[in-house]
This record gives sequence, structure tokens and C-alpha cells, in this order.
Amino acid sequence: MFDPISNDHNGETENNVHKEFKVTPWEVEGEIDYNKLIENFGTQTITPEILMKVKDLIGEIHPMLKLQYFFSHRDFDWILSKYENGDKFYLYTGRGPSGMIHMGHLLPWIFTKYLQDKFNVKLLFQITDDEKFLYSQDRTLDEIKHYTYENILDIIAVGFDRRKTKIIVDTKHIKHLYPIATQLAKRITFSTAKAVFGFSNSTNIGMIGFPSIQATPCFLPSIIEGKQTPVLIPAAIDQDPYWRMTRDVAERLGYHKPAQIHSKFLPGLGISGKMSSSKPETALFTTDDPEVIDKKVSSAFTGGQATVALQRKLGGNATGCPVFWYLRYFFDTERESDERLLKCKSGNLLCGECKSDLAKDSKSFIVNFKKHRESAKDIIKEFMYNEEI
Ligand code: TYM
Repeated sequence: MFDPISNDHNGETENNVHKEFKVTPWEVEGEIDYNKLIENFGTQTITPEILMKVKDLIGEIHPMLKLQYFFSHRDFDWILSKYENGDKFYLYTGRGPSGMIHMGHLLPWIFTKYLQDKFNVKLLFQITDDEKFLYSQDRTLDEIKHYTYENILDIIAVGFDRRKTKIIVDTKHIKHLYPIATQLAKRITFSTAKAVFGFSNSTNIGMIGFPSIQATPCFLPSIIEGKQTPVLIPAAIDQDPYWRMTRDVAERLGYHKPAQIHSKFLPGLGISGKMSSSKPETALFTTDDPEVIDKKVSSAFTGGQATVALQRKLGGNATGCPVFWYLRYFFDTERESDERLLKCKSGNLLCGECKSDLAKDSKSFIVNFKKHRESAKDIIKEFMYNEEI
């Protein structure tokens, strides 16, 4: 059941030597050892038993689970047993609108849509415009407002069910969040916030209070439904500190602890690191033109040898190659990807071929996605919380 190669992704080197790395909601650096993160963050691995339970409930196991792209969780098993007993959960995920959307952001959202469809559940999607304004010294509220609008188009373009999805923009919908956020904030000390988020005396007080706002949609479903409602959060693991803090106070406030399912990061197309808006030349954005995609993919780092002759002789390092991972998570079927891996390792595949596959697949994906972004413009209101825009 488990994919033997996926633990190599982004950091597990062949001799198991790991360099320093850092994962916080605002900074991801270095070569990430995902097993170490599970240990450090105190989360659980997604076991074969959990995957079998998913299969029992929805009849299949999504490749992102099977290939361990989603690799860690808190209480996912509990969410599944609740569901089995007829207790529907809400999904909750989000975006901090600091720039345009890249393909890395899309992965957890595509998986969230899949969960929404398969389990037939409601979704709250939070846009933390306040967080992104407070975090950066330079960004103006107007800039953030621009990205909020652009990012909403991407969220809608993913294809969430408009009858079951509500987007919350913090500065617009604050009156729905503030009563719960205040309850939370009163129970979280500065010393806890410092320990969880690494805040210091020079952190602005907006940032220090902000985590209670990101925690609030974990409890909103219970208010909306008028009964204790379980919540499952699909996101990359960088967001986990928020949930650690929220889980600590949930039961004291009379709510269930929110459950999480954590993904790895889609790597950027450079030598190392996650796909990130701060390195635009190594990220593919949903708004990139085909020529730009061609250029970025052709300059991508690969796991190939220095020359064709060496590649034929020694084979390539597919598991250290962002192009390989990108194709595996987004475009190849599991079988195609396994074949690609074998052909690469045995020297029967050259980097140019993989790059050409990636450029072709990414261009057709993005061209199509852009059409959905355009149509999203007409239906924004239907997605907004209480139709307030
Ligand atoms: P943000 O905008 O940094 O990221 C949005 C979502 O994308 C994930 N992510 C990635 N996933 C895979 N590969 C990457 N290279 C990559 N880069 C980012 C993030 O984990 C996240 O799921 N504070 C949050 C906004 C937020 C939120 C939430 C996110 C509010 N409530 C609930 C998740 C769940 C933020 O700034 O995300």
C-alpha cells in the first residue's frame, strides 16, 4: 500500500543525513525531513488502517493519500468514525492573500474539493487578509485587497460546490468571527503564543492576536449548525502550529478539537525548497502565459547527470528532481510515474523528455484553469459568507 519512494521526497537523502530545516506558517527553509516533523510537531502518520477505512467509506484511496503526499494527521481516524456513525464534518482550509496563486497552493485545495465531493460535506474557506497585512512591513491594505480578489477567483476555479462552500474574508466578515475569536484569545497567553509561533518582543501586537482569528473557523460550524460539529482541515504542514494552539483550548470552550490532514510541499523548480511566490522564477502561477511556463520549465533544476552520455551510463536521480515530483503529484498516473522513475534511474530517460512532458501538461492545465477563473467573476457573491462582499 505505501509507496516505497515517497519518503525520499524533499529531504530524505540516501544515507539518511539531514541538514537543518525550518517550517513555520511564515517561513519554510532547508531540506525538510517529514518524519522528523511528525516527531517535532507531535502529529501521527497516516497508517494503512486509516487508508482502508477511507476505502470502506468512499470506495477508493486518492493518489495524494496513497502516495503519501498527505502524510500526517491529527484525529483523521476520529473524523472517519464520526462520519461512519452519521456525524457529518465540515472541511476548513484557507489562504493568506500575499500574491498570486501557484500550483503548490492548488494541491491541498484540489484534494479538499475531492473530499467535499466524496463525503458530500460543507467547506469554510478563510482568507486571512489581516495576517498578510500584519506580517509584512511593506504591503499596503490595497495591495492585499487586490490579491484577495484575484485569489478568490482561483479558489472558485478549483470547482468547489457553490451550495456547500463559504468564503470568509477576515476584514469583511470580522463580525462573524470576533465573538469566538475573543473567547479564544482570552484563553491563550503570550507565553504560549511565543512558544508555538516564535513571537518576540518586536512582533507587532496585531500578529500576536491574529492566531485566534485563524482558529475561529474551527468552531464556526458548531455555531452555524447549532450543535457540536467536527471539523477537518486539509493543508500543508506549515499551518500546524495554529491547530496545536487551537486544539489546546477547544474543549475548554466546549468544542471538539479540530482534526487535520497534513500535506508535504510541492517543490519549486529550483535546486531546493518549496514552491513559493517569493521565488517566482521557480513557481508556476495559475495566471502564467504559455511562453512563461515554457521558460520556467526549461530552466528547471533536475536530477539529471551533467551530460547525456553520463545520464545513459549512470541514470538520473529522479527522487531528487522537482520535475519528477511535479509530474507525479499533478499529471502522471501512479503507473506512469513508476515507469518514469525506473526509466530515469536506468538511464533510459533524458531530462529534456520529462521537461517537455511537464511543460505540455502544465500549459494545458493552466489554459483550462484560466477559463474557470474568468467564469468565477460572475459567481463570487454566491460563494461569500452570508453573500456579503
Ligand atoms: P498560505 O496562503 O501560505 O497557503 C495556502 C495553502 O497552501 C499551502 N501551501 C502549499 N502546499 C503545497 N506546496 C506548497 N509549495 C505550498 N505553499 C503553501 C498552505 O499550507 C495552505 O494550505 N494562514 C494561511 C491561511 C489560512 C489557512 C487556514 C490555511 C487561514 N486558515 C486553514 C490552511 C487552513 C496562509 O497564509 O496560507
